[in-house]
Order: sequence, then structure tokens, then C-alpha cells
Amino acid sequence: MQRNIILIGFMGTGKSTIGRNLSRTFGYPLLDTDQLIEENQKTTIPELFAQRGESTFRDLETQTLQSLHNHSGHIIATGGGIIERPENRPLLRQLGYVVWLIAKPAEILKRTSRNTNRPLLNHDDPARTIKELLATRTPHYRDTAHLSIETDQLSFDEVTAGIIESARYHFGRQEE
Ligand code: S3P
Repeated sequence: MQRNIILIGFMGTGKSTIGRNLSRTFGYPLLDTDQLIEENQKTTIPELFAQRGESTFRDLETQTLQSLHNHSGHIIATGGGIIERPENRPLLRQLGYVVWLIAKPAEILKRTSRNTNRPLLNHDDPARTIKELLATRTPHYRDTAHLSIETDQLSFDEVTAGIIESARYHFGRQEE
């Protein structure tokens, strides 16, 4: 396993914010798979979904993950659907210590309703989509993660501190 920390979890669970916090505290540069896709394709995620469809986006997500396989010493934030493609799950685990951020559906709805940059939730009934996607994705998050954290009752700093302690322990054990 490479020495990276990978953040997985549903939209709105704080992967980007926690990623930035971890990057600062751990001293590892932050990479974000959505951002890498946007940079490489010179477009935005909503435009990519609208013009080329979700399936093309998922192909690009897998390619991005594969392109990271030589990386070490990074914090890697991922898009909420990255665990959907079965081939991505072992790739994520090979890439590093995988941390699953969990939040309740109501909290996810609150956090994601603040902007419109998530095509999957940009319609009349995002609460229903959140419920349905959580039902299909939760087993995959669970199977892929080394560590899971319920974030609802914790501050971003508390979540960050918990991840750092666990990751240090995990990486330390690898070197024994
Ligand atoms: C998606 C989550 C988004 C982004 C895309 C699809 C998903 O990332 O990859 O809109 O399928 O859950 P965030 O989880 O960072 O919002």
C-alpha cells in the first residue's frame, strides 16, 4: 500500500474541507479527483455530465485513479461516486489508507443544497436521490474503507485529528 490518505464518502460529507485540513496538518499535498478531471478536460463537472454523460465521467474517474498509482505522500479527496465502479475499489485500497466520512441524510441535504454544482442532486427531489444512492453505495464505502468516521457530531478539527492519529498508527505498523 502507498503512503497516501484517501477520503471517500457521499457528497457533502466534508471530503474537500477535511482534505485541506489534513493537508495543512499532515504536510502532504492535496489532490482532488474531481479537480484533476476538470483540469484535464478543461471543463466543469456539471458541463461534463451535461455534454458527455455520467458514464464518460465515471470512465475519467477510473483513469484518474489509475494515473495516481505511483503517488505517495498525498491526501487524495475523491468524488462521492468513485466506489460505484467495482474496479475502483481495490485501486483505492492499494493507493493508501482509505477513510470513509459519514453524515446523516438530513445533514447531507443541508450541506449540498448550498450550491448547484452537483448534477446528480440538481433537480426537484434531491432528498430521494440521496436516500437511494446512500442505500446502494453504503456497502461499497464500507468494504473499501480502512477507517470510518461519523462526522455529524464532530467539528472538522476533531475529524482531522482522528484521521491523523489513526493514519500515523496504520503507517507506523506497516513499517514494523
Ligand atoms: C458525485 C459526487 C461529486 C462529483 C460528481 C458526482 C457522485 O463529488 O464527483 O458530481 O456521484 O456522488 P463530491 O462528492 O465531491 O460532491
